[in-house]
Amino acid sequence: MCEDCCCCNCGPSKDALIVIGVISAVLLFAVLLAAFGFVRHATFTVDDASLTRFNLSTSTSSFAYNLTVTLVVHNPNWAMSIKNTKPMDAEYKFDGQVFERVQVAGKGDKLRPGKTVVHRLSSGSESAVVPTLGNAGAVEYRKEREKGKFDVEVAVAGEVRYTARYTKCKVVATCPLTLQLAPPGTPAVAFQKVKCKLAKAEKNC
Ligand SMILES: *[C@@H]1O[C@H](CO)[C@@H](O)[C@H](O)[C@H]1NC(C)=O
Ligand SMILES: *[C@@H]1O[C@H](CO)[C@@H](O)[C@H](O)[C@H]1NC(C)=O
Repeated sequence: MCEDCCCCNCGPSKDALIVIGVISAVLLFAVLLAAFGFVRHATFTVDDASLTRFNLSTSTSSFAYNLTVTLVVHNPNWAMSIKNTKPMDAEYKFDGQVFERVQVAGKGDKLRPGKTVVHRLSSGSESAVVPTLGNAGAVEYRKEREKGKFDVEVAVAGEVRYTARYTKCKVVATCPLTLQLAPPGTPAVAFQKVKCKLAKAEKNC
């Protein structure tokens, strides 16, 4: 009889168990919320770029060019992966007109939490046609050629999904580059790292 009483009183009381249970649930909820509740968007930077050729042929409205771009993508989330639900592309634009599109990452490619991936994009063409460049583009080209520096925009576009999230989110980042022409045989020019600007996310992203 007495022993029974002793056992009942020595163990944690029912109230204490409830309190511990509630605290654990709150902590678990807080951890899950911190891990998956808030999406932090990927960041894009161009760490290096070099333009070794950029010739406009006005008769064919096309560029003969060689350009390399080092695009660095970082996932700042500590628990969520970022998965590409469509191929991620980069468009190269001069005077707002696209003269090249290169694939940065394939559909299904994943960027794990906290990780950084470096894409070394190297492209060139004898004739990258830009039908929309027009006379205005040619004028701008001549102006920039005088300076020996060309303004080229890298526009990254893709669609991603974050772990534990249902919605697919469009990703659009623009990186305005000012590239000094450095033909082969001339000294390499220093490149100032460029932070790309992310377009505002859609609802639920
Ligand atoms: C392209 O430009 C380079 C100088 O950057 C020049 O040497 C070359 O002749 C040009 N080529 C054409 C086809 O215009
Ligand atoms: C420049 O681009 C052309 C493609 O038109 C390619 O054949 C050539 O190897 C490239 N040059 C360099 C230095 O990458």
